[in-house]
Amino acid sequence: MSPESARPVTVAVLGGGTVGAQVAKLLTDRDTDLHIRMGTSLKLTQVAVRDLNKERPIPAALLSDDAMAVATSGADIVVELIGGIEPAKSLILAAIKSGSSVVTANKALLASDGASLYAAAEAEGVDIFFEASVAGAIPIVRLLQESLSGDHVTKIMGIVNGTTNYILTRMDEDGASFADALAEAQALGYAEADPRADVEGHDAASKAAILAELAFHTHVTREDVYCEGIAHITKSDISAAKSLGCVIKLLAVAERVDDDRGVIVRVHPTMVPREHPLASVRDAFNAVFIEAEAAGELMFYGRGAGGAPTASAVLGDVVVAARNRLTGSTGWGESADVQLPVLSISEAQTCYYVNLVVADQPGALASIAKAFADSGVSIQVVRQDGHGDGAGLIVCTHRSTDGALQDTVDRLRELSMVTAVVGVMRVEGEAGA
Ligand code: NAP
Ligand code: HSE
Repeated sequence: MSPESARPVTVAVLGGGTVGAQVAKLLTDRDTDLHIRMGTSLKLTQVAVRDLNKERPIPAALLSDDAMAVATSGADIVVELIGGIEPAKSLILAAIKSGSSVVTANKALLASDGASLYAAAEAEGVDIFFEASVAGAIPIVRLLQESLSGDHVTKIMGIVNGTTNYILTRMDEDGASFADALAEAQALGYAEADPRADVEGHDAASKAAILAELAFHTHVTREDVYCEGIAHITKSDISAAKSLGCVIKLLAVAERVDDDRGVIVRVHPTMVPREHPLASVRDAFNAVFIEAEAAGELMFYGRGAGGAPTASAVLGDVVVAARNRLTGSTGWGESADVQLPVLSISEAQTCYYVNLVVADQPGALASIAKAFADSGVSIQVVRQDGHGDGAGLIVCTHRSTDGALQDTVDRLRELSMVTAVVGVMRVEGEAGA
């Protein structure tokens, strides 16, 4: 389409917070660039907010506190940046019903009920795009939807939450307290409106569900994802990881198991050897590893949170949706056409670190080793610190199932010489484990 013939494409934004304000800014500042790239301009029509009196870098004339009126204003594209389940879901459905294409960064909503949004968009013949919902500026959604659509993805593993990665980095490198590091992440605009979504792992679990659905073409919701957050990680866990040459990261892992018998999707704190590439992903950066049968191993790295990086991903979707409006086409819909069962975490296989306080007496080590052996868990390394009743014993295992490791921990707790099981953590990325 030539620049002369194209009409302006109208864009209405729901939400003018950390991301919404940056989207409004980019739409205005990049007007000339976008005009050249698309052959027409993108016209920001309105921005819906809750509080019209709040100070924000958006012209007052564009603001409205009637989000439903903005959603149903008939804009070509409605960008939802409010977050949460409601009113976001009703607003998106109303926008679609009004014939607008939708761009959203709302992973919580997509992971809880994406299917009904995709179905509504398909029924109305409009687009729904969500690149910014996973890993901020990293273009991982379109990569899975398009570039890898001819391959067979077997595993995705990554750091997909910027807030928790920022907190763990500050605790590891500067000895910061959990509370101070979280406050910094909030001030930098990385955290969700309710930061428990970040620190309890729910945000990463929503993103893992979205990635798993795209990669494995099977329905995966937030409820299918095993989830442990980082709220219980202490400075002593960080020191223990350091002493083992590891760093603690909140990892999201989605994998096919046993020749497509099913998929397992999990989010949990993980010890990663310092020489592993994921260990060097610091602050609010994200990184995602993908293993695919034909492509082999791929790795993507970039800013995972914050207003501007997220707005970049939103704008990319807006440009694609705008081009589709101008040409009367739509992009990729949902591809959940293979219904693989989602299996329990007890079938997942990793290495483990187990930290015990033991009474250092003759035969103690043999009894402890027997507890591992009786559950079918093979020991890789044992390290004792101190002696007497409060000796510290760290056991690192070879790969085993989560179920077998849980069985081992139950056996250890019954041993008279084990005073306490003070820490159990999964270990990923070890060479030759
Ligand atoms: P935010 O700073 O809390 O902004 C939310 C915006 O929504 C605010 O402008 C708020 O208005 C507005 N809002 C809330 N309820 C509303 C209602 N009922 N009607 C109209 N407006 C309403 O959140 P954010 O960080 O920009 O995040 C927005 C979305 O992007 C979320 O889905 C989030 O998960 C996702 N996301 C965020 C990031 C990030 O780094 N921040 C990265 C990727 C994805 P007021 O300003 O008047 O309160
Ligand atoms: N709160 C999210 C994070 C924002 O910290 O990663 C980006 O999705």
